[in-house]
Amino acid sequence: MPEVKGRWVYLLGLALLLLTPLLHAKAIPTTPGWNDWQDASLHVASGQSIQAAIDSAHPGQAIIVEAGTYAEQVTITTSGIKLIGKGASIVPPGSPVQNTCSGLAGPGTEAGICIQGQDIVLADYVQEHRKVLSVGQAVRGVLVTGFEISGFSGLDIAVVGGQDCRVANNILYDGAQYGCLTVGSENTVVDTNTVAATADMLFIGICMDDMSNVRTTNNDISNYAIGLCVQTNGAFVHGNSVTNSCIGAYVDPGVTGAQVIDNHISNANPICASIPDLGVLGVAMIGASNTLVKQNTIEGLTANGVNDATAVGVIIIDDPGTGTPASGNLVVGNVLRNNDFDIFVNTTGTNNVIEDNQCSTPAELCT
Ligand SMILES: *[C@@H]1O[C@H](CO)[C@@H](O)[C@H](O)[C@H]1NC(C)=O
Repeated sequence: MPEVKGRWVYLLGLALLLLTPLLHAKAIPTTPGWNDWQDASLHVASGQSIQAAIDSAHPGQAIIVEAGTYAEQVTITTSGIKLIGKGASIVPPGSPVQNTCSGLAGPGTEAGICIQGQDIVLADYVQEHRKVLSVGQAVRGVLVTGFEISGFSGLDIAVVGGQDCRVANNILYDGAQYGCLTVGSENTVVDTNTVAATADMLFIGICMDDMSNVRTTNNDISNYAIGLCVQTNGAFVHGNSVTNSCIGAYVDPGVTGAQVIDNHISNANPICASIPDLGVLGVAMIGASNTLVKQNTIEGLTANGVNDATAVGVIIIDDPGTGTPASGNLVVGNVLRNNDFDIFVNTTGTNNVIEDNQCSTPAELCT
């Protein structure tokens, strides 16, 4: 008997020993610890500072910004931040804040929200925006959604040196140089934003100048000189609408493999033809290669005879500056109507294929 008892005591002791971590683990949720600060979102109410919340947030934390107007420039350098607006508007503050986006779109320009990696080396400003030469450490997985951002001198939102960042469901008004720019980043998604100049036409709606894998989808852009600026190889540009602008999608010289699919480009801004060196173009491949231009609807692009200009739905030409040829572009299954001219190809490049497009000019390129 004592032997048996001793064994029971031993087994009970062992059981308690084994259970102890479990009992202990069970107690953890009742203490304010790991789970709480991982999961709880921060709240910013009208009159409070969005930046203060961001500065106190942990990586991966969500920040809910309640309805109100916030006069701030916001800088996000923490990975995983989810900045979620619930009726929140962001407008320029009285005095500018210095961050990586300062001067990005030209001297003296600022951004509404700057999502920025660390140790970013920028080229000097030449035109449009400063190029990213290198990124020390990317900021990862940031989401910005649900905001109305308006009136910033450079960009309403910029992603600089990001990885897997997402800008979705925002309203971006009157970004003077850009509604949204992603530059020097990887795997950025810009989806379902409204990007508009509400008074005078402004410069660029959405621009992609990334390292790789950018997706710009389902955005509505209006009243920008250039709706979509495509400067990333393999950029996926799908389901966007560009209206009341001059150039729907401009695929830059040297860019290869962009996909411009299912976009609706319509009704040029009447001011375009009178702006020198701009013109009216739907999808422009200027020294660009291996672009897929598929199933877009391009309509109502006309220069109204101003300055003998001709609006063109799809254009493939060499880069007039450098002579870079445009090769291997495929234009297929698009609908072009009510444009001055539908498809214009004049390049020293080779292997451009134009097929199965519903259009009228020139007849030989249309079905
Ligand atoms: C075609 O391109 C060449 C070289 O850039 C240019 O000289 C010529 O005028 C262009 N043709 C048309 C019809 O625009």
